[in-house]
Amino acid sequence: ETTTAELAPGVHIPLIGLGTWPLTGDDASAAVARAIDNGYRHIDTAENYANEAAVGEGIRRSGTERSELFLTTKFNTQWHSRDGVRRAFGEAAKRLGTDYLDLFLVHWPNPAQGRFVEACEGLQQLVDDGSIRAWGVSNFKPAHLRLVQAAGLNVPVNQVQIDPEHGQPEQLRFHRDHGILTAAYSPLGRNGDFLGHPAVSGPARELGKTPAQIVLRWHVQHGRVATPKSANPQRQRENLDVFGFSLTQAQIDAIDALETGAPPRLDSDTYFH
Ligand code: A2P
Repeated sequence: ETTTAELAPGVHIPLIGLGTWPLTGDDASAAVARAIDNGYRHIDTAENYANEAAVGEGIRRSGTERSELFLTTKFNTQWHSRDGVRRAFGEAAKRLGTDYLDLFLVHWPNPAQGRFVEACEGLQQLVDDGSIRAWGVSNFKPAHLRLVQAAGLNVPVNQVQIDPEHGQPEQLRFHRDHGILTAAYSPLGRNGDFLGHPAVSGPARELGKTPAQIVLRWHVQHGRVATPKSANPQRQRENLDVFGFSLTQAQIDAIDALETGAPPRLDSDTYFH
């Protein structure tokens, strides 16, 4: 069974990665080093998490070759111009202690500022000159994605908040129709309410898995990348161990039905950073 998705020709992103917000300092370094020791090969951070230097330290502490890892970071809206993105890359690479990124994302469209299309154009240039292997966006709604497409760019991936109660069906349909890979942040939800729901706990019991494993498996079978955050070694291992078993279509449908229709926690039109 494949444990990666192809983002661009020859660029394979592991379907499960380690989310690192809100870890900082030594907690972040230790969690990253531990996760890599536990088999993680995909780490997700952001300028806005204020932990890139700590994540870089964790990578070095793991002793694993940089080339074996898939490293994603995201830049803030102050860099939304073509030149700005290049400077954002330089600063992020320095903080992380790396000379390239596997994936660099526009963290937030900030539509009021209105320069996210330029940011995407800047990212494409970084791919073209080999500074980054792939680019993408985060928290972009279909309206924002359409504007990027209108500039002649294909968006490879959009990282958005998705869990069984916040499935954002319209958003996901847009991604599917336009060949945009979906990456889910907070894939287990922020309050864990649905982990006890029979649609999740039932298959967990039947398959001898934990509720979190069932939810992550649901993401994987939907073809999504998911980046659950955990600093706890046992939960890290559990979250990575979601291959080699399958949910039935009926089980997937039952989890899909937990959708509440509630908007994601942070709205891209009103939230800025
Ligand atoms: P912990 O770090 O103590 O494991 P996010 O939404 O940012 O991805 O955060 C995920 C939340 O879910 C964290 O609070 C994390 O806590 C918790 N969590 C991560 N993995 C599991 C798991 N396998 N079972 C239950 N809770 C989990």
